[in-house]
Amino acid sequence: MPLPADRLLRHSVVTCLLLHSLVLMAFCFHHAATSCSKRCYCSESETWGKTVRCSSLRLTEVPQDIPNDTRRLYLDFNLLTTIPTNTFLELPLLSELDLSHNELVQLEPGAFQGLTESLQVLDLSSNKLMTLNPEAFAHIRARANLTYNPWHCDCNLQRVMPLLDLEPTSLAGIVCQTSEPEDVGAQGTPFLLAKDLDLCVVLKKTTDVAMLITMFGWFTMVISYLVYYVRHNQEDARRHLEYLKSLPSKQGRSEESSTISTVV
Ligand SMILES: *[C@@H]1O[C@H](CO)[C@@H](O)[C@H](O)[C@H]1NC(C)=O
Ligand SMILES: *[C@@H]1O[C@H](CO)[C@@H](O)[C@H](O)[C@H]1NC(C)=O
Repeated sequence: MPLPADRLLRHSVVTCLLLHSLVLMAFCFHHAATSCSKRCYCSESETWGKTVRCSSLRLTEVPQDIPNDTRRLYLDFNLLTTIPTNTFLELPLLSELDLSHNELVQLEPGAFQGLTESLQVLDLSSNKLMTLNPEAFAHIRARANLTYNPWHCDCNLQRVMPLLDLEPTSLAGIVCQTSEPEDVGAQGTPFLLAKDLDLCVVLKKTTDVAMLITMFGWFTMVISYLVYYVRHNQEDARRHLEYLKSLPSKQGRSEESSTISTVV
C-alpha cells in the first residue's frame, strides 16, 4: 500500500529539483546576458576594472547594452558617423573611450554628457571630422587625440581646440586639409604648432578694412552733399542780389544794401 505514495514523493522531489535547476540556469544565463554587451567582448581586471571591446564589428551606432560599470570602451574600426547627445550618459565610470578609425563627421552637443568627471582618454583619431562643436565637449577634461582628420582650419577651430587637453605628442598630426581664409598658408600645416598663424586676426583685419571702406564712402557722400548745398545756396543768393539790383526805386537800393549786409 505505501508503495505508490513513496513513488509519488520521489517523483515530486525529482520534479522539484529539475525545476529548481532550470530556474537557476535561466537566472545564470540572464545574468551573463546583462553583465556584458551581446556583440562585444568583455574582460575584467583588478587594476583596470571592466573593459569592453567592440572593435571591428561594422557598428553604425553605439550598442545600448554596454554594462554601466565599464571603465574602458573600445569602439574603434567601426562605421560610426555621429555621436548623438547623451550616448554615454549611463556609463559613469568610463575613463577611456576609443572612437578612432570610424566615419565620424560630427559630434552632437552633449555627446560626452555624463563623462565630465570620469573620462581621462578620448581617441577621435582617423575619422572624418572637419570641425568641432564646443558644446559636444562641455567641460570634459580628457586627453584627446584628434590626429588624422580632414580639419577645416578657421577661426572657430582655432578657438575650440585650445579648450581641449590635447595629447602633446599628437599635435603634429592635426593638419589642416582646408582653411578659411584660404590664402594664409594653413593648408597642409599642423596649425596648432604654427605659432604665427592666427586665423581670427586675419578675419578681424578683413572686417576692419570693410568698415574703413564703408566709413570712407559715407564721409565722401556727406562732404559732396555739403559742397552741393553751399554752391546751390550761393547761386540762390547771387540770383536774389541781381534781382534786387534790377529794382529801380531808391527804397529798393537801401533794402538791397541791407540785404547784402545780411547775406554777407
Ligand atoms: C548599474 O546599474 C545598477 C542597476 O540599475 C545599479 O544598481 C548600479 O549602482 C549601477 N552601477 C553604477 C556604477 O552606476
Ligand atoms: C593618436 O592617434 C594616432 C592614429 O590613430 C596614433 O598613431 C597615435 O599613436 C595616437 N597618439 C597618442 C598619443 O595616443
